[in-house]
Amino acid sequence: MVSKLSQKPGPIGVFDSGYGGLTILSEIKEVLPEYDYIYIGDNARSPYGPRSFEVVYDFTLQAVQKLFEMGCHLVILACNTASAKALRTIQMKDLPKIDQNRRVLGVIRPTVESIGGISKTNHIGILATPGTIKSESYPMEIEKLYPEVVVTGEACPMWVPLVENNEAESEGADFFIKKNIDSLLEKDPEIDAILLGCTHYPILLSKIRDIVPNNIHIISQGEYVAHSLKDYLKRHKEIDDKCTKNSTTRYFTTESIDKFKESAKTFLDESIHVERVYLE
Ligand code: DGL
Repeated sequence: MVSKLSQKPGPIGVFDSGYGGLTILSEIKEVLPEYDYIYIGDNARSPYGPRSFEVVYDFTLQAVQKLFEMGCHLVILACNTASAKALRTIQMKDLPKIDQNRRVLGVIRPTVESIGGISKTNHIGILATPGTIKSESYPMEIEKLYPEVVVTGEACPMWVPLVENNEAESEGADFFIKKNIDSLLEKDPEIDAILLGCTHYPILLSKIRDIVPNNIHIISQGEYVAHSLKDYLKRHKEIDDKCTKNSTTRYFTTESIDKFKESAKTFLDESIHVERVYLE
């Protein structure tokens, strides 16, 4: 249960199952450098990709509650799997009970909004974790905004472990990236835009570019999420007023601090101070 929440303005909360959300946070900080941020990576329990709906929902709700307790009024689920499996329930069922003036936003909707006009053939491919593909969240959101677009998904179960285990530059990574891209393009050869529906995949971007034919556009979601957040804060002054602006970022992990610092180097250019957090 959430303890009494402060009504004072606070940082923007950014949550991911692990490190991947750092790619989204970096883009958000580029676009909105003046705000304060708290990042939580649930590294002790990642990856979320293969986990069931119930478990991803439980874990994500715990993190959202923790971020609210830490003073956040706005939380971004910088994780496709959490956005796909937990966001809707948290928005509909939990927020009205916890505090109806707080907000939780995901990464799928802003990413989907950005794809309009990018594909000329109206055939789009999605690369994501097995959980995100299975949830059908991307095809469902795309259908709402662009019913004419044909969406084909490909689950890439090895890509997150490759990044997490510092194997992004290895031949093993080449093998699995080629395998999944070939499989996607075999399923639908008319695809002319591929959406990277997982926070870890920007780390593999140069390899993906080497394998994907030049005529295919690659959509990496971080910058779209960041611009969409900027737009959201402009449209929702009541939320913006609840966000402090001193350009600070605090990083929390559910795993070991040293491990987080070491692995975060793959995702960030700066060295960071990390604290431990417990979710329950
Ligand atoms: N952050 C997750 C996502 O964007 C990838 C890592 C995981 O499976 O936990 O889907």
